[in-house]
Amino acid sequence: MTDDAGPTVDTDGSRSRAEESDPAIEARGLTYTYPDGTVAVSDLDVTVRAGERLALLGPNGAGKSTLLQLLGGVLDPDAGTRRYFGVDVSPDDVRDRLSVLTQDPSDYLFNPTVREDLEYGPAQLDVPAAEADARVACLAERLGLADLLDRPPFRLSGGQQRRAALASALTVEPDVLCLDEPVSNVDAANRATVLDLLAGLHADGTTLVVSTPDTELVPAVADRVLLLATDGTVAATGPTREILTDRPLLERCNLAPPRVVELFDEVGADDVPLTLVEAVARLNETDVQF
Ligand SMILES: Nc1ncnc2c1ncn2[C@@H]1O[C@H](COP(=O)(O)OP(=O)(O)O)[C@@H](O)[C@H]1O
Ligand SMILES: [Mg+2]
Repeated sequence: MTDDAGPTVDTDGSRSRAEESDPAIEARGLTYTYPDGTVAVSDLDVTVRAGERLALLGPNGAGKSTLLQLLGGVLDPDAGTRRYFGVDVSPDDVRDRLSVLTQDPSDYLFNPTVREDLEYGPAQLDVPAAEADARVACLAERLGLADLLDRPPFRLSGGQQRRAALASALTVEPDVLCLDEPVSNVDAANRATVLDLLAGLHADGTTLVVSTPDTELVPAVADRVLLLATDGTVAATGPTREILTDRPLLERCNLAPPRVVELFDEVGADDVPLTLVEAVARLNETDVQF
């Protein structure tokens, strides 16, 4: 199975700026079988372009979390190859550039306090203490964790733990961030905070890979989608708009499009908005009276 990642050469055709034009991750033939014999990922090819926002979208059990962990180096494949930043290196060799947030916050929260959890990553990478402190303070502020830093992480709520785990994945200031369902269990206000933070990271050049079964979330986190079918094969890859407006394709994957897509599609609109904000703008352009 192959995704549709095109060439990543610069617009003038040169590859002189190798660092920027090389894909962030190139995975070929990835295969992973759990110890009980469940084949979760089978012969998948994925290219993550530098600086892009890619969603791994698919129904429950399609293999998104397994694939994300293979891409992020949390799991090692039984077969297949992974290259990072254009070089044949193991994920461990790029730990300072690649961060993963799995679905289980306890993978990141194992110290007596949240502060120590957040300091752990920078300490592993020998980041000077003053710099690490500044990063922790800044992320705690941005993610609403400032009052929780001296608390034991296991005493936090599920949503607080997810935000603390996200902060810990960010303290190493990665170039590539792989996130598994980053806002599941997170309330509306904090969801907006997390999405704002991700938008800011993307604007600053961070490459994002987000796994989710939620088509409503995709427009906020991805410009391109790799859509997995129920059997774990790649059903399609393409720009977010193309995938999210293809109802038959989504239905074949046990998914529904975002509600606004469904609404505008039902009333026969040509140019279907993907989000509520786009829908409001579209309605304001028309003479519809309520
Ligand atoms: N630890 C595990 N042991 C055995 N099977 C697993 C384990 N984790 C996931 N699976 C199975 O692997 C397949 C893919 O799971 P997963 O990657 O979690 O999918 P998704 O994230 O798309 O819901 C599913 O059939 C799931 O039941
Ligand atoms: Mg999952």
